[in-house]
Amino acid sequence: MTKYVIQGGSPLFGEVNISGAKNAAVAIIPAALMVDGVCRIENVPQISDVTLCLKILEQLGANIRAVNRHTVEIDCTHIRSTRTSYELARKIRASYYLIGALLGRFGQAEVAMPGGCNFGVRPIDQHVKGFTTLGAKVVVEGGFIHASTENGRLKGANIYLDVVSVGATMNIMMAAVMAEGNTVIENAAKEPHIVDLANFLNSMGANIRGAGTDTIKIQGVDRLRGGSYAIIPDQIEAGTYMAAVAATGGQILVKNIIPKHMDCITAKLVEMGVEVEEHEDTLLVRRNAPLQKANVKTLPYPGFPTDMQPQITAVLCLAQGTSLVTESVWNNRYRYVDELKRMGASIQVDDKTAVVEGVDHLTGAPIQACDLRAGAALVIAALAAKGESEISCVQYIERGYEDIVGKLRALGANIRVVEEPGENEELEAHIG
Ligand code: EPZ
Repeated sequence: MTKYVIQGGSPLFGEVNISGAKNAAVAIIPAALMVDGVCRIENVPQISDVTLCLKILEQLGANIRAVNRHTVEIDCTHIRSTRTSYELARKIRASYYLIGALLGRFGQAEVAMPGGCNFGVRPIDQHVKGFTTLGAKVVVEGGFIHASTENGRLKGANIYLDVVSVGATMNIMMAAVMAEGNTVIENAAKEPHIVDLANFLNSMGANIRGAGTDTIKIQGVDRLRGGSYAIIPDQIEAGTYMAAVAATGGQILVKNIIPKHMDCITAKLVEMGVEVEEHEDTLLVRRNAPLQKANVKTLPYPGFPTDMQPQITAVLCLAQGTSLVTESVWNNRYRYVDELKRMGASIQVDDKTAVVEGVDHLTGAPIQACDLRAGAALVIAALAAKGESEISCVQYIERGYEDIVGKLRALGANIRVVEEPGENEELEAHIG
């Protein structure tokens, strides 16, 4: 069993290099399935979710070559199967992108439902609505989603999403790229990784316009050819390091980012008394003064990201005054709060709102991560806390943060990895 042991209470100083965006990578890698030829993908983050995606593609017949630590070449010219392995696909929520990619290129897909997920609890109804509007038949049988077309090709159509969904927008976009005729997705999500996926597909020969706005127009093409593409930097990884220095105090240079993507996070941290200096592809983040309370409401991009909600809540635990955090994207994203309370935080959760009363300090404790961003929040709290914390279930954190231990150490954090007897718990896919 792997744990992180953190001796908290010291400010962070130094530089951190941000990796490629997880939520772009886990869509772009499945999208490579649509390409007839070799695609070279650069700035691929080294995280376990990416390893899983690559394994799934390999099982389907893709030829994958690691060029270096952050570059892969994927050749999907000779795909053998359109049925994914249950064992692998169920472990990762993003496996739903395999449906759009396989259906778009081959007119059929059989993909295992992600772990613990069903249409009622973790809806993918908007994905399904998109596929059926494009002419596919979609049924769930034996734990698999079966999607098929009558003549092997989808037909372009107008699709209005009932909820703003990142996954549905990207999945429908993939499915429509090789459909016959034109598709319009309305009420589309606008996250940076949606633009990134569209840019990737366009660089392979697709014709997508409007990604990053709420109307995306896709003109179907016959095939995608090989090419080269670099994934954007991870907005949430960058935001997590910014939150960490906000909590501990100190000064760090966050490198290899797109500052515009950070605006929604920067604005909130500035409101809390953090100083942020913007440069071309870096942010200098400094906190010397006491933290101030702030109210935070998560919203689809360009609003404050739900994937930063646990981390900002950890910081608000140490702010002067009472803050209100409202989670408006997911139903159940406060499961980490009990762990923060074990460290001395004062937080009351009522449905979608957390009332956070700032305390003078947190105290190190044994704590357990329950998902990726919850884990990141606990790391932040432990870095700022007085004394030692021992974080278990860190495999959740490693799904989405490349070398978090090495990067924090380079900032002066006292963090080490310990291996103890016992198995790492099998990951639940949750909302990752
Ligand atoms: C993506 O999940 C991200 N995951 C999540 O990041 C992120 O929290 C989420 O977008 C919101 O930004 C990946 O990109 C792999 P949604 P996704 O569809 O696409 C409802 C992280 O920490 N909904 O935008 O699955 C849904 O229940 C992870 O990196 C429907 O009702 O999220 C939710 O309330 C966690 N029907 C809301 O929409 C649908 O068909 C937004 O979900 C689909 C979604």
